[in-house]
Amino acid sequence: MNYDVKDLSLADAGELRIEWAGSQMPVVRSIGERFAREKPLDGVTLAACLHVTTETANLVIALKAGGADVYLCASNPLSTQDDVAAALVRNHEIPVFAVKGEDNDTYYQHIYACLDARPQITMDDGADLVSTLHKERRDQIPDIIGSTEETTTGVIRLRSMAAAGVLAFPVVAVNDADTKHFFDNRYGTGQSTLDGIIRGTNILIAGKTVVVCGYGWCGRGFATRAAGAGAHVVVCEVDPLRAIQAVMDGYSVMPLARAAEVGDIFCTLTGDCHVIREEHFRLMKDGAIVCNAGHFDIEIDKDGLEKLTTHKEEVRPLVTQHTLEDGRRITLLAEGRLVNLALAEGHPPSVMDMSFANQALCAEFVQANHGDLGKQVYPVPEHIDKEIARLKLESMGIEIDQLTDEQKEYLESWQLGT
Ligand code: ADE
Repeated sequence: MNYDVKDLSLADAGELRIEWAGSQMPVVRSIGERFAREKPLDGVTLAACLHVTTETANLVIALKAGGADVYLCASNPLSTQDDVAAALVRNHEIPVFAVKGEDNDTYYQHIYACLDARPQITMDDGADLVSTLHKERRDQIPDIIGSTEETTTGVIRLRSMAAAGVLAFPVVAVNDADTKHFFDNRYGTGQSTLDGIIRGTNILIAGKTVVVCGYGWCGRGFATRAAGAGAHVVVCEVDPLRAIQAVMDGYSVMPLARAAEVGDIFCTLTGDCHVIREEHFRLMKDGAIVCNAGHFDIEIDKDGLEKLTTHKEEVRPLVTQHTLEDGRRITLLAEGRLVNLALAEGHPPSVMDMSFANQALCAEFVQANHGDLGKQVYPVPEHIDKEIARLKLESMGIEIDQLTDEQKEYLESWQLGT
C-alpha cells in the first residue's frame, strides 16, 4: 500500500485517541454500523482531503466499513495529527498522505497521490481536490460522480465555479446543512479557536481586548467563548446586518483601523483576503497577538507584517514574535493558518459527529442518486439534516414534544384566526 505519514510507530497512541474521539461520535458510529451491514459504498473509490484528526479518522473508518476504497490527504499543511495518520495506515489499511508541517509542494504531491487512485467521489474541506481536478486533472473528470464540501470557504469557491458555468460535476454543500454550520461553525470554531490561542501562548484571556474580525457563525461562536473567558470583545464587520447583531449581542463594533489601537488579541474569521494589513500593524500596541481561524492563510497580510519586521523569533512552537522597526513586538500564531487546528486539535468530536454524519450520508446520497444530479452545488437533502438532528438527540437521551393533530391542523390552515 502506498502512503506518506511521519512515523508508523506513533500508531498505538493514535489508535487510543481515535477511540476516545469515537466514544463521543455516536451518530457517526451508528452510521458506520449500518454501512457495515448494507455496504452502500461498495466498489466506490473515495478521495478525501480533510484535516487528518481523530474525528476524521472515525469518518473514514465508517466510509471504509460502507465498502468504499478510501484515500486520505490533508486539507491544511499544519493540521495533521501524525499519530492518527500512522494509526489509519497501520491499523486500518487506509492510505494516508499527510505529514504535519509539510511544505506547499508536498501538500500538492499528497493531493495528487489521492487523485492517482482515480476516485469516483471526492470529499473536500476547502475544495482543493475539486479545483485540482478542474485545473490539472481534467482527464479524470468523467470518472467523478460527485463531491461533498465541508466548509464555508469551499462552498463559496464552488458556487463561483457553478455561476461561471465551469463546475463539471455535482457537489453537495455539507457546510450549509443546519446540523453542520449551526453547531460546527459556532460551537466548534468558538471553542477550538480559543483553545488554540490558549494552548499556543498560555496567556490569560480575562481582561484582554479580543478583536473578532467577521461576525458570521464562526465569529459569533468565538466572540461568545472569548467573552465567556472574561475578554472585552470588539467586533469588526463589513455587513451592516451582522454588525447590528454584534451590537445587540453586547459587543463593541468599530472599524479595524480603530480596533487596531486597542486590541490585545486579533482573530480573523471572514473567508476573505488581507483583512489585517500593514496599515493595521502600524497601529497595534506592543505585544499584540494576531491569528486566523478562517480556512486559508490569506486573511492576515503576512507580507505586510514581514515588511515592517526587523527581527523574528519562534518563541514557542508556531508562535512567532515579530519585532518591528520601532521596537514594538507583534506575535503571529500558526503562520496565519487555522489556529484552532495548528495549535489545538480542531473542533471537539461531539460537534464533528454531526458534520461528519452529513459527510457520510451525503456520500451515500451521491452514490445512490448521481444519475439524477447535474453540474451544480446541491444543498444537503432535508431528510438527511433532520435525521442527523434526530439521531444526535437520541444519542443524548433527550426526548422532545410532538405536535398534536389539532396543532398540525392549525399550522396548515389559513382560515383560523381570532
Ligand atoms: N475542522 C475543524 N475541526 C476539525 C476536526 N476536529 N477534524 C476535522 N476537521 C475539522
